[in-house]
Amino acid sequence: MNLLAEKRILLGVSGGIAAYKSAELVRRLRAAGAMVRVVMTSAATGFVSARTFQALSGEIVRCGWSDDQSGMDHIELARWAERILIAPASADTLARLAQGRADDLLAAICLASRAPLLVAPAMNQAMWRHAATRDNVQRLLERGVQVCGPDTGEQACGDVGPGRMLEPQILQQVLSDSFANGRLAGLKVVVTAGPTREAVDPVRFLGNRSSGKMGYAVARAAREAGASVALVSGPVALEAPTGIQRVMVESAQEMLEAVLARIEGCDIFIATAAVADYRPVAPEPQKIKKQASDWSLQLEPVPDILAMVAALEKRPWCVGFAAETEHLEQNARKKRMHKGVEMIAANQVGGELGFESDNNELLLVWEGGERQLPVADKNLLADQLVEQVADLYADQNTAHEPLENHAKHSA
Ligand SMILES: Cc1cc2nc3c(=O)[nH]c(=O)nc-3n(C[C@H](O)[C@H](O)[C@H](O)COP(=O)(O)O)c2cc1C
Repeated sequence: MNLLAEKRILLGVSGGIAAYKSAELVRRLRAAGAMVRVVMTSAATGFVSARTFQALSGEIVRCGWSDDQSGMDHIELARWAERILIAPASADTLARLAQGRADDLLAAICLASRAPLLVAPAMNQAMWRHAATRDNVQRLLERGVQVCGPDTGEQACGDVGPGRMLEPQILQQVLSDSFANGRLAGLKVVVTAGPTREAVDPVRFLGNRSSGKMGYAVARAAREAGASVALVSGPVALEAPTGIQRVMVESAQEMLEAVLARIEGCDIFIATAAVADYRPVAPEPQKIKKQASDWSLQLEPVPDILAMVAALEKRPWCVGFAAETEHLEQNARKKRMHKGVEMIAANQVGGELGFESDNNELLLVWEGGERQLPVADKNLLADQLVEQVADLYADQNTAHEPLENHAKHSA
């Protein structure tokens, strides 16, 4: 499975002799379908030119604060990245990261980003073995930074020992593995996404502003967590994520039927679709002609897909989404109880967040807990949501395991 397709990788290049290998890494990542933006330290530009990375990545390369054109590029890049990999990571860059400095563009991005950070150290073996470097690396590890390598072998300076940067194909694999967490391995997940269209007549419908981006991101995140995923999607302009079974529908009724056809054996149901609440009672078979007088449309409630799935005798673990314009937490808790589901992911709509935006913020509520996911790209939010679902699902399924199974495990 190609887990790097469409992934947003920020590659930091610092001033080490191994910087030339990072050009090959960019080429490989691009060939695997990833989007790559390169940020170089000023020392790195003494080893490889920015133009090389620009040509290979197809993106503008930033080499310092003077390239921060909007003055906010570092924040934009920090939010854009799904992974940050620094390769090579010099002793100096490791020291600056360990101290949490923000005195160059790359360090500032690392500080401002919530994306997982990976570093591939590359330096002379004595520098790597020095207590100062050891301390810095230890601090980074304690903060959850993934330290990749270094390799041992012959070095550019003629020494032999640890300090060689991992080869580009290994770093590519490490990055790819970082997207496969396996938390939902073996589980079947059904996700709904996008809006529904409720026909008024053959050319008109009642719809909403949902873009489907959140639901597609959730489907992708669930797949990357190892689940087998069916995505039931309303009309959207998004491509089907790879490795996912997608079914396109139009109306709430079609969405319900498509969900019910796939719900048997489903372990987790995540309803992100913005399903219409009402539909015309009697859609006209012919186009309605304009008239001088007022015209009113009689509406009836559509089936509540989430509540219906939650009420099934053999039902999956259910997550619903709630778009609210006010009293976010209160309404989310009410909706969770009313629908009888395990979790509600609520988001405030209006302003720059919500339906058509790439960013969002979510409040997850479940029985006895909640988690605020601050403003971030929908892909990152989807990863965090799926991680939380996986945690709660694992806890509850262990708690409800029949006693004889516990006996089996402890035997
Ligand atoms: C020819 C040459 C090769 C170097 N190779 C390395 C290296 O492989 N690893 C390293 O940590 N530093 C190396 N350095 C030193 C770094 O370039 C120096 O510490 C620089 O300040 C790093 O800055 P940066 O971390 O901001 O990129 C080298 C210096 C020179 C002149």
